[in-house]
Amino acid sequence: MSRKIAVIGYGVVGSGTVELFEMNREKIEKRVGSPIELGYILDLKDFPDSPYADKLVKDFNILLHDPEVEVVVESAGGATFAYSYTRALLEAGKSVVTSNKELVAKKGAELLAIAKEHNCNYLFEASVGGGIPIIGPIYRCLSGNTIQEITGILNGTTNFILTKMIKEQLSFEEALKQAQANGYAEADPTADVEGHDACRKICILGSLAYGKQIDPEKIHCSGISKITMADVDYADVAGYVIKLIGSVKQTNDGRIAAKVCPRLVPKKHMLAHVDDVYNAICVKGDGIGDAVFYGRGAGKLPTASAVVGDVIDALRHKGTNIGVYWQQAEDDMLLPYKDDEAAMYVRVKGEDAQKKCKELSEMFGGLIFLDRRMSKSIEEAAFITPFMKEADIDKSLAILSHSLSIESKIRLL
Ligand code: HSE
Repeated sequence: MSRKIAVIGYGVVGSGTVELFEMNREKIEKRVGSPIELGYILDLKDFPDSPYADKLVKDFNILLHDPEVEVVVESAGGATFAYSYTRALLEAGKSVVTSNKELVAKKGAELLAIAKEHNCNYLFEASVGGGIPIIGPIYRCLSGNTIQEITGILNGTTNFILTKMIKEQLSFEEALKQAQANGYAEADPTADVEGHDACRKICILGSLAYGKQIDPEKIHCSGISKITMADVDYADVAGYVIKLIGSVKQTNDGRIAAKVCPRLVPKKHMLAHVDDVYNAICVKGDGIGDAVFYGRGAGKLPTASAVVGDVIDALRHKGTNIGVYWQQAEDDMLLPYKDDEAAMYVRVKGEDAQKKCKELSEMFGGLIFLDRRMSKSIEEAAFITPFMKEADIDKSLAILSHSLSIESKIRLL
């Protein structure tokens, strides 16, 4: 007897899923143990030239009320109708596989609980790291560990842009256009550039690792749009590259510290060598030590690879919830980011900037001054603060800002 699946959203991920599925149909059916029928593709647009035009439907109820549909791929994105469709499907006992990080990050605890209650599965390997296996390893292979920290490059578009800017001197706009042409960027690239996409992804990883929903709206998030070539230059001379990094860790008092921001990454660190659309995620556990997951973090077939893997898993586990789960969180679970510690790269401008910063160095407990190759001026200075509480760095910078303008602040990794 054949098993029926359906796809919601025939964009980059949805069409990639169908393409990969057909490419490897024979092997996939062997792995599942039965023939698989692609029943429906739900999309509001028409695709008259598609070989799957006969599968296209516009009414969600057709999928929902077909008792033969067992697994639905939700690749529509967003957290409005994708949310109501996912709820309805899970309540009907149909498993849902998704690449929709916005929905998983916002509503994961609720949707996972519904899946558990109805003996089906809500699976989201494709929501983080594109084709890189990271959700399965955290919830299955590493579940014997206490996860101490997860740190990663989680957005392909921004990593592609930063790489093109640094290595090929492309402008930000040119690099973004190339990322969009390759299908890496979100429909609205602000989500990539301002760090929101990476923020959702680190929240998903943290929620999974620590069992409590981490709300993307409640953690610190900043993107790459304010990074200048001056910062790239200072960082380079000092032995660093700038990368957009998501991180989450458990503090000694059991709270969670999570954030997304550009960081100065030492050139000898593995993450410094992750370029283009590639993502890499470092997981530190008390058993395994350090493990690194690396691969294509965005794109049609890499993302489809993760989706199809989850579809196979869902078909294999019909009627059984496999236990991917986290709960709603308490209000005080997150450590305010200003209470966390960091060493900070700071670039300032103004009259006698270098002299003034040197005079105030003791106030910070000693600063490391940086040099650059291009446009040297005594009206600009850049330094690295000691590793200290962020709130204390800000207090000292507030004094400096009476006479100088603070142009950049970037944490070190
Ligand atoms: N826009 C995302 C990225 C797609 O660039 O990483 C994959 O989630």
